[in-house]
Amino acid sequence: MRARPLLALLAALASGAAGCTSEDARGSAPPAAPRASDQGAGAAAVAAVAAAPAGDPARGERLVAELQCNRCHDGTGQAPAARDAHCVQCHQDIAAGRFQAPAAAMKRWNENLVQLRDVPSLAAAGDRLRRDWIRGFLLSPHDVRPRLHATMPRLAIGPEQASDIAAYLTRDRREGRERPSAPLEGASAARGRELYEAKGCGTCHAFSGAAGVTAVAPVKGMEKETRAAIALAPDLRHARDRMDPADLVAWVLDPAAIKPGTPMPQVPMSPAEARDIAAFVVTAELSPRAPASAPERLPLLSRRVTYAEVDRRVFRVTCRHCHSEPDYALGDGGPGNTGGFGFKPRGLNLATYEGIAAGYVDDQGERRSVFSRGPDGAPRLVAALLARQAEEAGRAAPAVRGMPLGLPAVGPEEIQLVESWIAQGRPQ
Ligand code: HEC
Ligand code: HEC
Ligand code: HEC
Ligand code: HEC
Repeated sequence: MRARPLLALLAALASGAAGCTSEDARGSAPPAAPRASDQGAGAAAVAAVAAAPAGDPARGERLVAELQCNRCHDGTGQAPAARDAHCVQCHQDIAAGRFQAPAAAMKRWNENLVQLRDVPSLAAAGDRLRRDWIRGFLLSPHDVRPRLHATMPRLAIGPEQASDIAAYLTRDRREGRERPSAPLEGASAARGRELYEAKGCGTCHAFSGAAGVTAVAPVKGMEKETRAAIALAPDLRHARDRMDPADLVAWVLDPAAIKPGTPMPQVPMSPAEARDIAAFVVTAELSPRAPASAPERLPLLSRRVTYAEVDRRVFRVTCRHCHSEPDYALGDGGPGNTGGFGFKPRGLNLATYEGIAAGYVDDQGERRSVFSRGPDGAPRLVAALLARQAEEAGRAAPAVRGMPLGLPAVGPEEIQLVESWIAQGRPQ
């Protein structure tokens, strides 16, 4: 017992010391760059992050296992989840025809399957992403890749756990790798802008808010071939928050040298050109984001709404894949029913009328109705759908997690449908 605090202290000292050397290795501060986090919540997150503790990678490693990050991400440093549990692998296998199922089913599935076919690998995170950025992102995820439907789900973790996970994910930073101490010194952002256009970076990347940078629509046909690369290309608005300038220069010059297997191709250029482009990416003036607003809530419908219609248009589309019948899939009713991604089993089965009527299990282990009304008068089910719209607009509600978890919000017409159905007494 007695050895424990000492070990913890040593670990803290070791990570503290590592923090210092890494700062030194990164060299002098980059030119003052306007940060992209101009949304209220983003600015608060950055302020909170500034004082972030270093985090314990060993605890982070355990958390990454418990929270099952490997059901979506490669490159977690842990073995991928079995295919039966892997949200992305199974979808990719179906899309590629590698799944054993009748042809008719495969065809139907493929038409329906759009979500979670591409997810960024977390490999070499330490050589690309700032530890503090990861920490802030885990606490309040936001959309980084405009052409990817799914976002990082808002998990049930607090600041300390986020620090531990970020420390673990960035543990592999290769300090020995050569990093120029003043990577952007003498670089020309104006020349960088021209190069950015000339080299076609906009084919894959959005750079929202940067005046005069046009997002190029992917060429038809090519879109299919490079679907993953286009879907996974980050909006470069966030790059200055996510990356150190030295890492950015190295990345632009040769992405695969940093992250083998990355979908970003190597675009031929000289080291000086890479510095110019990086200077442009880091210093381009960004217009503030228009305050995002959730879509307007529609009035109740006067026509009759049946369960069959709500099931077809809402529950069956995305919900049931995380809230299904456990018997159907060998005891796994999905993370929203039998638990997963670190969430407790909530026992909420959205695949049947009876399942929905049975409600969910709260933190005290009591069954609760998904129709009971909260402080704002909205039934819990509707509140969860509205909360997802609010999350997409940058306003996560602390008390209600947005549903569908980490996936595009349900539209106002669908919410209207659910609300009207509940108001009408939930006819079959
Ligand atoms: C349900 C699938 C899913 C799970 C589970 C999941 N993620 Fe993610 N994560 C995503 C998606 C999708 C993105 C890309 C979001 C975007 O770009 O907007 C993402 C992005 C990230 C990023 C940013 C990477 C980058 O290059 O932009 C980090 C870091 C991350 N996740 C860490 C984690 C960790 C740690 C866990 C486990 C605690 C985890 N994720 C669990 C789906 C998931
Ligand atoms: C064993 C293979 C398999 C696994 C594992 C799997 N899925 Fe799916 N998923 C499917 C199939 C098949 C479909 C299409 C079903 C249909 O058309 O009704 C689908 C459809 C979906 C859809 C709705 C279609 C869409 O694109 O909007 C969502 C959302 C979804 N899955 C999420 C998940 C999540 C989250 C996980 C991990 C917790 C997961 N899936 C794990 C096979 C799988
Ligand atoms: C074929 C599509 C494609 C092209 C063309 C492309 N990129 Fe990328 N880029 C990507 C993808 C995909 C990623 C994410 C890679 C990953 O996480 O493995 C990426 C990542 C990046 C990043 C890291 C950003 C971040 O926030 O993590 C930067 C910076 C970047 N690209 C700059 C450029 C520049 C500059 C060019 C033009 C010289 C360019 N890219 C051309 C697809 C592309
Ligand atoms: C990617 C998986 C996933 C998808 C898709 C999903 N859910 Fe959930 N859902 C969860 C998880 C995990 C929980 C448990 C959350 C918690 O404990 O905070 C949950 C909890 C809930 C709750 C519980 C009560 C609450 O608010 O705490 C409701 C209601 C709910 N989901 C509704 C929906 C609806 C409606 C849809 C479809 C529009 C949906 N979910 C789609 C994973 C998912």
